[in-house]
Amino acid sequence: MARRLLTATKLVSRSSIGVGTIHRTMASCGTSQVVPKEEVVRFVRECLRKAGTSEKDGQTVGHHLMTADYSGHFSHGMNRLRMYVQDLETKITDAHAKPRIVNDFQAVALVTGDNGLGHVVGKFCMELAIEKAKKFGIGMVTARSSNHYGICGYYTRMAMDQGLIGFTCTNTSPMMAATRSKGKGLGTNPLSLGMTASDGDRFHLDMATTAVALGKIELAITKKEPIPPGWAMGSDGKVTTDSEDAYKTSLLMPLGGEEQTSGYKGFGLALMVEVLCGILSGGQFGPNVRQWKDKKRVADLGQCFMAINPEAFGPGSQERLSILLKQLRSLPPATDKPILVAGDPERAAMERVDENGGISYHPNQLKDAEEFAEQMGVEPMKVVPAKIH
Ligand SMILES: NC(=O)c1ccc[n+]([C@@H]2O[C@H](COP(=O)([O-])OP(=O)(O)OC[C@H]3O[C@@H](n4cnc5c(N)ncnc54)[C@H](O)[C@@H]3O)[C@@H](O)[C@H]2O)c1
Repeated sequence: MARRLLTATKLVSRSSIGVGTIHRTMASCGTSQVVPKEEVVRFVRECLRKAGTSEKDGQTVGHHLMTADYSGHFSHGMNRLRMYVQDLETKITDAHAKPRIVNDFQAVALVTGDNGLGHVVGKFCMELAIEKAKKFGIGMVTARSSNHYGICGYYTRMAMDQGLIGFTCTNTSPMMAATRSKGKGLGTNPLSLGMTASDGDRFHLDMATTAVALGKIELAITKKEPIPPGWAMGSDGKVTTDSEDAYKTSLLMPLGGEEQTSGYKGFGLALMVEVLCGILSGGQFGPNVRQWKDKKRVADLGQCFMAINPEAFGPGSQERLSILLKQLRSLPPATDKPILVAGDPERAAMERVDENGGISYHPNQLKDAEEFAEQMGVEPMKVVPAKIH
């Protein structure tokens, strides 16, 4: 029997991970057409090649953007391709830059991205942190002169795949309203920490320190939908539900929203990220980072990457995590929805893509990709019927 593709927020049972999980398809829309994952990577790689990158760097970004869409974070996948290409074409990002180590002291290193693509810088830094963690038990790398590096979870997953705890965070263009202010003080400053448990279960937190990432407001515009109250302020300096006005104003609420609902904690977390990123690396920080999509200044973002070997502290951490996750998942539910841990929605999204044989994009995004293919002179993405409708 045909099964309707899930929209926005719907519960599905996922026996392979032992829980029901939320599948959030920010851009999927019930279409029975999907794009195979390797086709997404190919398309992004070819567009970036046309914009001047090497095959290898194009592949790195392609794999990253595909992974964002694969895990349900459509705000940070193909949705961002035009922006990266434009930055390369206008040379505000250097297509030929190679990240290099500036300071290297045992478990710690400082890297400059030399204004290259953020995904390339991020991969380089996390590989270095992993190498150090294997040698010293912990590796910590900060980067400056970097660019927008996509989803944080991509880098933590690199460490998790090696049996390590991964951590990363980045500063971003200022768009968070500091508590008690209607001015932009800090960015959406996302962070991620992940660890795999002994039974293959995992905790994989990946979150902006604003109530939402700006990309989610862009997606609401694409879908012609309002945004929930508490996400952003409008042009009048008050909380708005108008997605267009919110995007134009680009003044997001910190995680927690206004002061009465503990927004100052999100503000504090974003400042913590800034300490590890711009302050530690010597890149731009806080309101000094260029405005979002500013075409005149380089971004010079600061980023932080950590890999930690749990075995360096003694045995049993992964077993303990496995017990803890089981205990949390089996707490008495407050509603008819199952208890999730961070990373579950993304796993469910990936399972769904695997079942369908590809990623389900919103028709507007597919149309945009087709137009972009023509503009870039590359083969458009091949769309195939979904295996399960
Ligand atoms: N590079 C950048 O400049 C930048 C800026 C902002 C955000 N981002 C990325 O955007 C993506 C989206 O960020 P976001 O803050 O909107 O994420 P989100 O709100 O969708 O999810 C945040 C975290 O909560 C977990 N989660 C969701 N529902 C849950 C539930 N019911 N129970 C338990 N855990 C649950 C998720 O697994 C995730 O780890 C992230 O990948 C982030 O790294 C990047």
